[in-house]
Amino acid sequence: MQNIQSIADGIFYVGASDRRLAKFENLFPIPRGVSYNSYVIVDDKTALMDTADASVGGQFLENVAAALAGRGLDYLVIDHMEPDHAAMVEAVLLRWPGARLVCNAKTVPMLRMYFPGNDAAIASALVVKEGDSLSLGRHTLSFVMAPMVHWPEVMMSFESATGTLFSADAFGTFGALDGAIFADEVAFPTRWLDDARRYYANIVGKYGVQVQGVLKKAAGLPIRTIAPLHGPIWRQDLEWFIGKYDLWSRCEPEEKAVTVLYGSMYGNTASAANALAARIAAQGVKVAVHDLSCVDNSEAVAECWRAAVIVLAAPTYNGGIYLPAGELLDDLKALGLHDRVFALVENGSWAPMSGKLMAAKIGELKNCTVLDQKVTVRGRLTAAQDAELDACALAVAAAL
Ligand code: FEO
Repeated sequence: MQNIQSIADGIFYVGASDRRLAKFENLFPIPRGVSYNSYVIVDDKTALMDTADASVGGQFLENVAAALAGRGLDYLVIDHMEPDHAAMVEAVLLRWPGARLVCNAKTVPMLRMYFPGNDAAIASALVVKEGDSLSLGRHTLSFVMAPMVHWPEVMMSFESATGTLFSADAFGTFGALDGAIFADEVAFPTRWLDDARRYYANIVGKYGVQVQGVLKKAAGLPIRTIAPLHGPIWRQDLEWFIGKYDLWSRCEPEEKAVTVLYGSMYGNTASAANALAARIAAQGVKVAVHDLSCVDNSEAVAECWRAAVIVLAAPTYNGGIYLPAGELLDDLKALGLHDRVFALVENGSWAPMSGKLMAAKIGELKNCTVLDQKVTVRGRLTAAQDAELDACALAVAAAL
């Protein structure tokens, strides 16, 4: 059964959701699923804006056909080549062989890579560059290059008659669509925001500078609707979500808050982390506590994007850092987290080293500092360490 919805005059949502996939990119758990958004514009000419992941390919093709209502497809616009959006390019060309590909110069070699055997279609592609436009009738697309948001060939397409920005991965989020496709129809701040932040930090977070560049370009466009490739479509409160993207891409803390992230083998480092969290909360500070062995690394990364101060607590393990904490720090470096304050809790029954090693890794993060008030646990925290805990808690609160 086709399942299309109108999102603006002459523009239809033709995407679909996958609730069976366990991990996005085979890395990031998605218990709420994910949507692969795609759109058809019907005018004198017809255009399909990106395709979809192969997992929803059947539904997607049925939707495209329903939106076209018997008409042919004139253009297939490829804003992003990653297979979660481009997997169905060949299938679309097979079904609508008259469709002309529209892409930029960086997309062409990727099309040849992923779709060998489609040389004629690729050779006749309409290759566009920044500012070029394509008239479909009363709808006109113009193209905004968005390299590294999140691949080098990414571009966005702006449809001027309806003010619709097809924003590629930007403004996307994990989470399947539950019938409603607009952000104003769902409880976005309470049900979606955590997944949107986790998606941003882990998928696009490394490319904050490039996101800032695109936000500046987008500020000059009369945008009324943001149509991303994942998650709900925005037609109200655009400024609120753009504001989140502005904060996230500048890597500014979203909240004046503390996140405590601990690893613990037998509960003793957890006990110290919880005792410290209680003392921080007693300072009137908003605190969250997470066990790094229980949350996915992608959730810990998202917490580091959200909070201003990060308390990292970990035992010493094989002379190094307990793995989940060490891996988190490596990932934060790869993603380019910057401008945060860290407090450390280390544990070691005979040779506590994790504090020194964690500080060294944090030293590789740009503009990140480690508070002097480190807490050192020898096996388990003792009552004699009250003052040590209090000093750390006060320093954390003062750092906000
Ligand atoms: Fe949703 Fe970069 O693909």
